[in-house]
Amino acid sequence: MNYRNVISRGTKILNNNSIKTANIDSEILFSTSIKKSREDIILNCEQKVNYQEIKNYLKLIYRRKQKEPVSLITGNRFFWKYNFKVDKNVLTPRFETEILVEQILKTFNQSENLNVLDVGLGSGCILISLLKDKSKWHGTGLDISNLAIKNAKINAKIQQVDNRIRFINSDIDKFSSSKYDLIVSNPPYINKVGYNNLDLSVKGYEPKVALCGGVDGYKIIDKIIKKSKIILKNTGTLAFEIGSGQHYKVREHLKKNGFYVFKLIEDYQNIKRCILARKIK
Ligand SMILES: C[S@@+](CC[C@H](N)C(=O)[O-])C[C@H]1O[C@@H](n2cnc3c(N)ncnc32)[C@H](O)[C@@H]1O
Repeated sequence: MNYRNVISRGTKILNNNSIKTANIDSEILFSTSIKKSREDIILNCEQKVNYQEIKNYLKLIYRRKQKEPVSLITGNRFFWKYNFKVDKNVLTPRFETEILVEQILKTFNQSENLNVLDVGLGSGCILISLLKDKSKWHGTGLDISNLAIKNAKINAKIQQVDNRIRFINSDIDKFSSSKYDLIVSNPPYINKVGYNNLDLSVKGYEPKVALCGGVDGYKIIDKIIKKSKIILKNTGTLAFEIGSGQHYKVREHLKKNGFYVFKLIEDYQNIKRCILARKIK
């Protein structure tokens, strides 16, 4: 068997198990199992594969067949412009979250010093991407999960921004600090019913604390808004991701707490996905 035959065998297995991204997944898993780039594989598709290589590959295909996300099998996910190490203790960075990073970078296009707080650091994908782009920014990465903090520290070190990040393992409720210029977050915002209905590939493999925002989905968002009222400087910016249809209630809540919404950005499916507000009181 050659590379092409093996990949097509993997694709067939995944297709038969209703994995929508069967083709690309089998390619990525093959490249992971033989430790070669996808380009290498495509260019050398006639190259022969030995028994052990097929066996290693099929082990990964079997994990994918059980709905384990590709990112957890490979331990990597590309986000914004960087590769992030991920494990079962963090949410795999999502493409929608890149919109938040993009909007923040657009909003702050000067190269001033900023003190940034990321609430719910996870893998560190938001804060690390921002700090990579803005060499004068410093950040605090806060997460209730100590294991998430450990993962983020690895990514910060790889991306060489660890010397500009203070890592804090705490509930946002219990966090008190000096003032920030910018607070960013991709909080857990799925409600209880939504969480129970999630696909096994998400619910079965990603931490509940990273996804579920309480019974109505607003539990952590509310905490962030209330805390930001205290620890954000006057005219500072609060920028965060929200779930489908949450913008009405979130906007109200922001207004009540002295914030003015200046950007509401849609994602690729036209869902209002990220909100940027300025503290005015
Ligand atoms: C949706 S994940 C976001 C992770 C990462 N920022 C990203 O965008 O991929 C939410 C994160 O918030 C953390 N979290 C949940 N509740 C929290 C709380 N009350 N205080 C601080 N962090 C919390 C979770 O542990 C999780 O890492």
